[in-house]
Order: sequence, then structure tokens, then C-alpha cells
Amino acid sequence: MIDYLYSRAPFNNMNKHFLDLNNFSKDDIDRILSNSLEIKSKGKSLKILEGKFLSLVFEKSSTRTRVSFEVGMAQLGGRASFLSVNDLQMGRGEPIEDTSKVLSSMVDGIVLRTLEHKTQIKFAENSSVPIINGLSDRSHPCQLLADLLTFREEKGSIEGKKVTWCGDFNNVCFSYAQAAELLNFELIIACPKEFYPEDMKNYKNVSFTQSISKAVEASDLVSTDVWVSMGDEREADERQKLFSDYQVNQEILDQAKSDVVFLHCLPAMRGQEISHNLLEDPRSYVWKQAENRLHAQKGLLIELLN
Ligand code: CP
Ligand code: NVA
Repeated sequence: MIDYLYSRAPFNNMNKHFLDLNNFSKDDIDRILSNSLEIKSKGKSLKILEGKFLSLVFEKSSTRTRVSFEVGMAQLGGRASFLSVNDLQMGRGEPIEDTSKVLSSMVDGIVLRTLEHKTQIKFAENSSVPIINGLSDRSHPCQLLADLLTFREEKGSIEGKKVTWCGDFNNVCFSYAQAAELLNFELIIACPKEFYPEDMKNYKNVSFTQSISKAVEASDLVSTDVWVSMGDEREADERQKLFSDYQVNQEILDQAKSDVVFLHCLPAMRGQEISHNLLEDPRSYVWKQAENRLHAQKGLLIELLN
């Protein structure tokens, strides 16, 4: 009897999961981004993942992450299925461990969007195939791949550059902080003192200020995100007040380098974290950034599933 037809080897190498940006080395990230650019230049013709199947398990809403993974798999010759957690038995209380064991016995990779990061870890510990974090309360590493790809296409290497984050120290910002350490750029975070993380001293190449003007001065890349992330809705009123001085607008971008790149992971709240027309400013690359979710994740899928 051919054993491998009936069972998969346990997948014990946690490094093969992509729960956070620092599951990869700088060389890994460079390779993924180079592959992404090459795949992007070749269009839809590379059927490298023929026969591969990706499951998307989401506990929260999504436009970009869901569609970019579904389309990415199709363009690479594979398939994907989307499962809202309410459609799964997990939504009725089946343990995460059991769900992970069963799903990973059938599919080649799983993308998770979870309320809590610990769900991602539990899934990974019980999965025989790679788990990809498609956003948790802690981090959004796939977003960073797209942001890094966009900066690389427009300006080249990010090493040694000055990057500014304005607003909430949230999941996307946390992944920026990991990127700053891994890829050796300077990250300045402008936010109210109440939102400085307790372990702020642990972040390498990262500094904090309450002054948005100081933070954007001579910056190569300015990025921001909503003030109220999914899961923070109960604090919405308080957050609107506390972040009201941290809006990125034309005047703020004027204080950065003249060729600054402005990014926003989207969805955006115009009139809150950005001024009404900022996405259409010539310094904004957000539409390219959003499309790059597709190209960057194709590079990631080839790295993990091929
Ligand atoms: N930026 C991002 O992850 O968008 P979605 O929530 O639409 O997936
Ligand atoms: N910080 C946002 C990102 C959405 C892509 C959120 O978690 O809602």
C-alpha cells in the first residue's frame, strides 16, 4: 500500500507558515518580491500551481485580501474556496484544532482572517499545510508584501529610507514595525501617547512621536490606516477625538520629501485619517498598492505552495 496516499507527514516546521513578516528572513522577502515582479511582468500565463487548492477561512469582512487570493490562485492554475466562519462547523463550536487537522488533510494551504491572533497560532500548530495570516488583531503581513512591492517598483530598495506611520498603532502598523527591523529602514510612528505600545522599547529601528509634522519631515514613504479597525468599534467616538490631529492631508505630505510615496492599505475613511482628495494626489500610489496585493501574494503562494 502506498502510505502517502492516505496520510500527510505532520507539518512541524512553523517557519513554513506566514503568520508574521518575521517568519521569513530578509533574503526570503527579497526573493518573494523579485518573483512577484517577474510574475507581474508575465501576466496571467504562469500555471505553476496547477492542481493546488487554497482554503480561505475568514472571521471578518474583506474585499482585497479575499479577491486577490482567489484571483491569484486561479491565475496560477490552482483553485480557492472562501469559507466565512459562520459557514463552518467552527462557527457552531467545533474546535480550531479539529478544523485545522481536517482542512489541512485536504487542501494545500489556508489563508486565515481572524479576530484574534492566537487563533492563527492554534491553526498553524495543528496544520499539515502552510497557514497564511490574511489579517489578525496583531498583524497584516500580506499587506506589507504589497506595500514593499509598491515602494520597490517606484523607488527601489527601502533599506535606509525614512518611513512614517500616522495614526493608530494597529495590525498594519505592527507589520511595518517588523519590516523596519527586518529590512533595515527607519520607521517613525506619529500617534497620541495613549497609543504607544507598552513594549515600545523592544522595536528596532522604530521611534515614536506625538508630532505628525516632525514625523513626516524628509520622509520617503508615508502610510496610514483607519482610526477604528475591525473589532475596535466600541471605542469609535473616543478614537475619532484622540486621532483628530493625525490626519494625513496635502499640507502634511508637503513636509515630506518632494517624491514621497503615500500608501494606505484601504478601506479608507475620507475626512478622517486622510483628507477627502488625498487618494487622488499625484504622490498617492494606493490603487497600484491595492493591485499589488494580487502580485505580491502570487509570489507568496509560489513560495509556500509550490
Ligand atoms: N487591505 C485589506 O486587507 O483590505 P480588505 O480588508 O478589503 O481585505
Ligand atoms: N486595520 C484595519 C485593516 C483593514 C485591512 C482593520 O483591522 O480593520
